[in-house]
Amino acid sequence: MAQLEAQDMAQAVIDRMADCKDPRFKEVMSALVRHAHAFAREVQLTPDEWMAGIQFLTATGKMCDEKRQEFILLSDTLGISMLVVAIDQARGAAALKDAPPDQRPTEATVQGPFFWPGAPQLELGADIGAGNPGEPAYYYGRVTDTAGRPIGNAVMDVWSGDGEGLYDMQKGPDAGMALRAQFRTDKDGNYRFWSIKPSYYPVPDDGPVGGMLHRMGRHPNRPGHMHMMLNAPGHERLITHIFVSDSPYLDSDAVFGVRDSLVVQFADHPPGKAPDGRVMSKPFSTAKYDFKLVPSAA
Ligand code: BEZ
Ligand code: FE
Repeated sequence: MAQLEAQDMAQAVIDRMADCKDPRFKEVMSALVRHAHAFAREVQLTPDEWMAGIQFLTATGKMCDEKRQEFILLSDTLGISMLVVAIDQARGAAALKDAPPDQRPTEATVQGPFFWPGAPQLELGADIGAGNPGEPAYYYGRVTDTAGRPIGNAVMDVWSGDGEGLYDMQKGPDAGMALRAQFRTDKDGNYRFWSIKPSYYPVPDDGPVGGMLHRMGRHPNRPGHMHMMLNAPGHERLITHIFVSDSPYLDSDAVFGVRDSLVVQFADHPPGKAPDGRVMSKPFSTAKYDFKLVPSAA
């Protein structure tokens, strides 16, 4: 039997997949093996370091339950979630790559762990921020396709943390839904609702991933943002955020999710009449953002 040298081991593992029936699985696993072996060779990994890595992954798995997904957080903080989002969007929008800027689809970003299906379906203009910490903010704009045609009846899920950076799901086991809803655009593609101006906040950092960030000399914070998910028949689903332009950490988002095209200037207003006629007794802000969806066939 021929003895394998370090540089030949990855290929030997790949060769054992000769009978694999699934070409895509084989392609992915071959690349994984090749890169993992190259990594171990590059850093000349020691047995103690490999064991520390296995213990870290074990602890990451043990931290996971239906409310906490530490592996996704690991993927997020290593930039892999955002990379996969970008690859996926580039694939879907390949035909539109060279389109003029006003016909490019809205950029996608990470979904994060705080989407909670089944949020209340509310009328356009409803206030989901009342009673929560944070400055009131009015969000409005239009949903169109990349050619600028309005998309009526598009379903828009919105969710965010509060003005102190906490999501409803982080407020204990008995906390109900807050600061989240589902709206439908009107026939001209318009949407509007009231919420709060979201604050920056740390990703959950009390587990193994938080320990890793600390050891890397990194902070765990994300800049303030409002999550949006748009679903419309005949169009690709869009999962994205709009980011608050004066928020700290725009340049160092812990999960690498910021896209310049998603940063929105929130206009500050003194107490008084809001764009929808509502009379505000305290200062508020307004954020306008138009979304462009990719037709499914593109
Ligand atoms: C969030 O934006 O909600 C989020 C995204 C990734 C990791 C943690 C939180
Ligand atoms: Fe978030």
